[in-house]
Amino acid sequence: PSQPRERLRVAIQKSGRLGDPARELLASCGLTWRESRDRLFLYGESLPVDVLLVRDDDIPALIADGVCDLGIVGRNVLVEHGLERAATGRDGRLTEWRRLGWGACRLDVAIPDDQEWTGPEQLAGLRIATSYPRTLARWLEEQGVDAQPVLLNGSVEIAPRLGQADVVADLVSSGGTLRANQLEPVTTILESEAVVAGPDHALDDGRQEIADLLLRRLDGAVRLKE
Ligand code: PRP
Ligand code: ZN
Ligand code: MG
Repeated sequence: PSQPRERLRVAIQKSGRLGDPARELLASCGLTWRESRDRLFLYGESLPVDVLLVRDDDIPALIADGVCDLGIVGRNVLVEHGLERAATGRDGRLTEWRRLGWGACRLDVAIPDDQEWTGPEQLAGLRIATSYPRTLARWLEEQGVDAQPVLLNGSVEIAPRLGQADVVADLVSSGGTLRANQLEPVTTILESEAVVAGPDHALDDGRQEIADLLLRRLDGAVRLKE
């Protein structure tokens, strides 16, 4: 559907946990750029690679719709998008082209820390606040538990205190956010890390060659850091 493009377009998070490391990784691949005035676009100078700075949640759709070719994003975002896309019968499957080994986090169920955890069956009938409803629903189904996801796009951790939900399923990195809200992680739904996401097919218009070059450099940069 998209117009022919001779330059590779990579989407990364504008701000947040993965944004700066993603930029550093691209810089360590030898990419230099000029920043657009609105700071949403980095025009690559040393390679025909441009970088789009966006919300992490938007990255999978940008790739699936062909607006961007690759993205650096958390597996958590990629998995949720894939389940959503499949459930609504749309194509545009994405895959992990590379695992980057940083940006580790978990999607955990967390309950108020004054409660006892006895197992997933304890969640039956409860309202679970999350930004990852499809990933949560799949896990609940695997556990054979019937609970009610409550979709929140941010500040999931305050939902139990507000009476909006009983427990949460949220991302845990250092654990600080949950602790500050008297919540305790009790079980893991998904293990995540930063990945290079792309379509499940090769790119067109010579962009695959550019992608191959970038990924070769990226592999070298990742290896050097190990
Ligand atoms: C996640 C999550 C919490 C925070 C937890 O957000 O939603 O806000 O990280 O981190 P901690 O355990 O170190 O306190 P993230 O930055 O991944 O993404 P978002 O800003 O898109 O919600
Ligand atoms: Zn986000
Ligand atoms: Mg957050």
